[in-house]
Amino acid sequence: MELSQAIKKRHMVRAFSSRPLPDGKIDALCEQARHAPSAGNTQAVSFLILDTPDVTSRYWNTTLPPERRSSFSFPKLLDAPTIVLVLLKPHAYLDRYSEKDKKHTMRGLNFDAWPVPFWWVDSGAVIQNLLLLATAEGLGACVVGLFDHEDDIRTEFGLPDDQRIVTALTIGHAIEDSPGRSAHRQWKPVSEIIKRPT
Ligand SMILES: Cc1cc2nc3c(=O)[nH]c(=O)nc-3n(C[C@H](O)[C@H](O)[C@H](O)COP(=O)(O)O)c2cc1C
Repeated sequence: MELSQAIKKRHMVRAFSSRPLPDGKIDALCEQARHAPSAGNTQAVSFLILDTPDVTSRYWNTTLPPERRSSFSFPKLLDAPTIVLVLLKPHAYLDRYSEKDKKHTMRGLNFDAWPVPFWWVDSGAVIQNLLLLATAEGLGACVVGLFDHEDDIRTEFGLPDDQRIVTALTIGHAIEDSPGRSAHRQWKPVSEIIKRPT
């Protein structure tokens, strides 16, 4: 699939069959997805792959306990055979920018030295890579925010305190889907988003 086609075709899929991905597929996709730009080539993004029913159910039991499921709009989201937790160590940027070739920038001193926290930019690039790669493979994927459950998931899976969980990504074989609540929003006119100085 052409890149431009994958970009246009990609959309969030919120209904999955429980059919597992082929062996090794998710590792291969994550390995490709990590080839993204990162400030100072810090490479602070990693993945925790949840890809057996007992493990994905630990994720859902933590973020969406059974008693809350009857009112959940996308029940078949929970059938996704794979959930990738996109992990990030922001402190890696302070360490990297304290190295000899970057020390003069003073960005290694503290997080306030970063007007734009590039770690979020860099994790977004990895996430988009993964979404596009999944699309190109004929798979469906959805970014699922953790919101108030980041600490709970960190505890559930024994992740260190300094490791942020940027998002969860459900990945699998799409089945008939109902559109998300934001799907009715049209693309803005190009004239609103591409400008030149007057
Ligand atoms: C950072 C981020 C967080 C999102 N969180 C959720 C979420 O928690 N649940 C959900 O159903 N969709 C979530 N979405 C999907 C957006 O609603 C979706 O990308 C947007 O409506 C555009 O639709 P499309 O991606 O299908 O083109 C998220 C997207 C992003 C980029």
